[in-house]
Amino acid sequence: MYDTGKIITGLIVFLCLITFPLWYDAFTGKAATKPEPKIITKEKQCVEATPYMRDSHMKLLIQWRDRVVREKMYSYKGSDGKNYTMSLTKTCLNCHSNKQQFCDQCHNYVGVTPTCWNCHIIPEEKS
Ligand code: HEC
Ligand code: HEC
Ligand code: HEC
Repeated sequence: MYDTGKIITGLIVFLCLITFPLWYDAFTGKAATKPEPKIITKEKQCVEATPYMRDSHMKLLIQWRDRVVREKMYSYKGSDGKNYTMSLTKTCLNCHSNKQQFCDQCHNYVGVTPTCWNCHIIPEEKS
């Protein structure tokens, strides 16, 4: 015989998962509008391709940190061949000098609060 209890539990879990975006929005109340991170730099592209940055900027930042702190390497070659100094404040926030309207837009939306800024300096907000 089938284990009815397990099937019902499975169904409930499944329903919760597929409806997650609906009740998550209702629950938090702040996620109703999509984030619109503003690009204010005149540069045309990021250190890597935009889809990669969107998905993996946190991994790239950790990689940068490890290289600087553990290996004393300071220069990063993007896949377009350009060289960048591996620095959160001096590089990322130089082009994205609008943390609130850029980084925070997305982070508030997904509810992450990176603790980097306990130590790293946030440059003056530009718009
Ligand atoms: C407890 C303090 C502290 C926190 C929190 C912290 N860092 Fe750092 N980070 C440092 C210090 C100290 C260095 C070394 C600075 C140097 O050698 O120039 C560093 C270096 C780095 C570097 C390379 C150098 C530079 O100027 O950026 C990166 C990238 C970096 N951290 C990223 C991050 C990220 C991303 C987070 C959050 C997820 C984070 N850090 C959180 C203290 C911290
Ligand atoms: C030379 C200037 C420059 C630097 C340095 C730079 N960015 Fe970017 N970044 C851009 C530009 C321009 C875009 C938008 C590209 C486009 O329109 O496709 C972008 C896009 C992004 C995106 C995707 C935004 C979206 O709407 O999906 C993220 C995330 C991002 N950057 C994070 C970072 C982080 C983290 C760093 C440091 C590791 C960094 N950027 C360094 C210029 C820069
Ligand atoms: C296009 C949206 C978007 C933009 C723009 C963006 N982030 Fe993120 N960021 C995310 C998402 C989504 C996560 C959570 C990923 C996860 O939890 O796996 C995240 C996570 C992070 C984390 C890891 C936090 C943690 O506690 O694990 C760091 C560090 C980070 N972002 C740094 C930055 C910085 C610095 C900028 C601005 C230069 C930036 N992000 C801009 C979407 C974005």
